[in-house]
Amino acid sequence: MVSGGIFIDGELFLLGIFTLDAIKGMNMIPKKIILDCDPGHDDAIAMLLAHGNPDIELLAVTTVVGNQTLDKVTRNALSVARIANIHNVPFAAGCHRPLVREIMTAPHIHGETGLDGPVLPEPEMELDSRHAVDLIIDIIMEHPPKSVTLVPTAGLTNIALAARKAPQIVERVKEVVLMGGGYHKGNRSAVAEFNILIDPEAAYIVFNEKWPLTMVGLDLTHQAQATPEVTEAISKINTRSAKFVLDALQFYGESYRASQGFSYPPVHDPCAVAYVIDPSVMTTQKVPVNIEMSGILTTGMTVADFRFPPPEDCHTQVAVKLDQAKFWQMVIDALKNIGETEH
Ligand code: BDR
Ligand code: CA
Repeated sequence: MVSGGIFIDGELFLLGIFTLDAIKGMNMIPKKIILDCDPGHDDAIAMLLAHGNPDIELLAVTTVVGNQTLDKVTRNALSVARIANIHNVPFAAGCHRPLVREIMTAPHIHGETGLDGPVLPEPEMELDSRHAVDLIIDIIMEHPPKSVTLVPTAGLTNIALAARKAPQIVERVKEVVLMGGGYHKGNRSAVAEFNILIDPEAAYIVFNEKWPLTMVGLDLTHQAQATPEVTEAISKINTRSAKFVLDALQFYGESYRASQGFSYPPVHDPCAVAYVIDPSVMTTQKVPVNIEMSGILTTGMTVADFRFPPPEDCHTQVAVKLDQAKFWQMVIDALKNIGETEH
């Protein structure tokens, strides 16, 4: 439950207590997104942020092989939907392997299930019968031009295939805001980030289509660490979704400590959703970015060209600096808005 109201002459008049769905329905200009993900601890938090934020209309959740196999990440997505009481949003499964390469997963970060740690409920919701690629295309074509933002937080296989299958979507999409890459360093190799490295050919397609694209990469997401102050604030919310996030962060934090030496885990994927909610949560810089597909040491690198000036037709930008307080407040507010759900 959340309180809702209207602004008249800059003043908020509270109208009463409403359900989250009702509040979202009142918002005349929500930001419509499709979340393409591979839950994944941080993908799950991205989903909760999108669902719990009144400015976002979650048009669909689509899944793709990544942190774990397609079956596992899809089941995780549906379980998270049940935890957060997400209804009336289509969920669809997409590609079970990258375009060219063999499957590469991330059990050292996300465990054997892809979302180890929290006890996940059996999914209740049925999957949409369409392949994720078709659902993405259908939704973009059904909505007015430039009204749908794609938010990929996994390998870019589904998005690349959608652009190839229905090239007319490229002009219609408002923008692509993705978690992936990094202009400074990698996490799965010295220079490559996981989401790009697992399907560099797909990433090449997505970065080279002429839609506006924001790369929310490691340079930014490593600033979004779940510190003890953050987990303490979440623990005060005391709801099923908040408890889920704490359990997820517990496992994820241990993985990041053991495998990458982080004191506190970087919570990558919600950063992309946060940018859509309010771009002032981070600074960005317009630079051309392209994908290395055939390097001996550099496959999967997002090569960002910082030479001045950027070309006039530059359609890509990279995220640089995060307003950490604003970001975590968004996550906390979303969890509060979701409130208690049925067990
Ligand atoms: C990205 O890889 C995955 O493990 C996370 O979910 C995130 O999308 C970070 O490199
Ligand atoms: Ca992810």
